[in-house]
Amino acid sequence: MGLELKTPKELEIMRRAGRVVAGLLRFLETQARPGVTTKRLDVLAEDFIRSQGAEPAFKGYYGYPASICTSVNEGVVHGIPNDRALEEGDIVGVDVGVKLDGYYSDAARTFAIGEIDKESRRLVDATREAMRRGIAKAVEGNRLSDISWAVQSYAEGNGFSVVRQYVGHGIGRNLHEEPQVPNFGRPGQGPRLVEGMTLAIEPMINAGTEEVETLLDGWTVITKDRRRSAHFEQTVFVGKTAPEIVTE
Ligand code: MF3
Ligand code: CO
Repeated sequence: MGLELKTPKELEIMRRAGRVVAGLLRFLETQARPGVTTKRLDVLAEDFIRSQGAEPAFKGYYGYPASICTSVNEGVVHGIPNDRALEEGDIVGVDVGVKLDGYYSDAARTFAIGEIDKESRRLVDATREAMRRGIAKAVEGNRLSDISWAVQSYAEGNGFSVVRQYVGHGIGRNLHEEPQVPNFGRPGQGPRLVEGMTLAIEPMINAGTEEVETLLDGWTVITKDRRRSAHFEQTVFVGKTAPEIVTE
């Protein structure tokens, strides 16, 4: 459980898992360009993960069929990689998870494909900044919902909406552990944060309505109004005076 504190030894393994995730995302950012299919990104990702002696965390998770999630434009999360080529102007959320020596790490970024319109740029930048502000609250003595409120207030202050149906989570020996980390909620609620807690902080922010729906593939989550959505995620350790991001 994420509410259980990890030992220094466990944190060291999670740092190594985080480095694999960070290296993979950096690599995928160079590969995500016009003409490349998301399926191609998935193949590259699985090869990369295995070359590092790790395993893809998502593949087979409740039957999920791929190693990464790729959520394009109105895609919110859990997009299954497919044969559609990325096009100039798209935004694509790439979410990756690995298991290394028994421990998980999970992170996501939204990449711009070539030049994107101004509204999409604002959405992507605001989502990254909302995550940054949430992470900044991952410090001993704060309450869990201080993270949530930091994300929500920044996103809504910029005129965007926060997805409520999916949330961040504890992470460690399992991909998803307690506690849930919502991206909305009044500050000062929930468990007190303590050094050694390990969290995946992951805002999903929409340009229009917060409402989402799932495609018939059973996974791909898209916005109800088909306006765009962005997603960023980091694996973070709660620290005594500062958070530690292990997937940067
Ligand atoms: N980062 C996402 C999450 O925490 C990825 C899960 S994809 C799944 O929910 F296939 F593993 F479910
Ligand atoms: Co996650």
